[in-house]
Amino acid sequence: MSEVNIRNVTKIYPGHSPKDAPVLALDDISVNIADKEFCSIIGHSGCGKTTLLNMLAGFEQPTAGNITVHGETVGRPSWSRAMVFQDYALFPWLTVEQNISFGLEMKQIPKEKRQSVIDKQIRLVGLAGFEKRYPHQLSGGMKQRVSIARALSVDPEVLLMDEPFAALDAQNRAIMQQEMGRLLAQADADVRKTMVLVTHSIEEAILLSDRIIVLSSRPGRIKEILMVDLPRPRNEDDPNFIALRHHLRELINEEVGAVE
Ligand SMILES: Nc1ncnc2c1ncn2[C@@H]1O[C@H](COP(=O)(O)OP(=O)(O)O)[C@@H](O)[C@H]1O
Ligand SMILES: [Mg+2]
Repeated sequence: MSEVNIRNVTKIYPGHSPKDAPVLALDDISVNIADKEFCSIIGHSGCGKTTLLNMLAGFEQPTAGNITVHGETVGRPSWSRAMVFQDYALFPWLTVEQNISFGLEMKQIPKEKRQSVIDKQIRLVGLAGFEKRYPHQLSGGMKQRVSIARALSVDPEVLLMDEPFAALDAQNRAIMQQEMGRLLAQADADVRKTMVLVTHSIEEAILLSDRIIVLSSRPGRIKEILMVDLPRPRNEDDPNFIALRHHLRELINEEVGAVE
């Protein structure tokens, strides 16, 4: 059984006022995401990417259809599905290690076990030496590392990421993409997570994903699902990479101005 099962999911938001028409954000989405798969969702702004991720997290409920993880309907947020947000969502009054510790405390992990988890995650995301810093003392890339470490520290089954690198400058974005690619290439099967990444970057999706789900413009429907069968770590100069990028650009360009 695949881990995440999205079955005929539709999401309609009510209009902002009673006069406004309801918004059909997603229309009849069905896809299965396998255990330990890295799956990206791409599509234009407003096509429902965040809506889909929020439903996977349990922050929002589908209007129709349903989502299961390991056979259980996603009804509410859970430790087993952690989210990394574009704006980091760190507590400014807590240090790096306190931010990472927070989820462990909420999950009631005993104090003596917390430190080793924190140390491991800090090393994994390359933040050794920055444990006592506060978020305002960190660059955007470092803040996002903390956010990823915090999400991984509670040992989720599924890691959900909503445009995690979009707020970074081009150079830091490239570094974070490469590092995540390196982590994916190195990670043993037992530490790998099922990952769902929302991005509007075609390159990021190809660099990282096993599969890419392309959504149409609003209402979001599945336009195409592509396998990315390239060895890791991936190289943007590889002719297969270039061909896939070309194909994805064409798909995305077809959707410009296609809002219903
Ligand atoms: N809470 C909400 N209430 C009403 N409309 C919403 C809400 N959240 C999103 N929408 C609308 O649903 C559509 C999809 O939004 P979203 O999922 O944020 O798209 P994306 O992340 O792809 O940019 C947009 O038209 C957006 O305005
Ligand atoms: Mg979004």
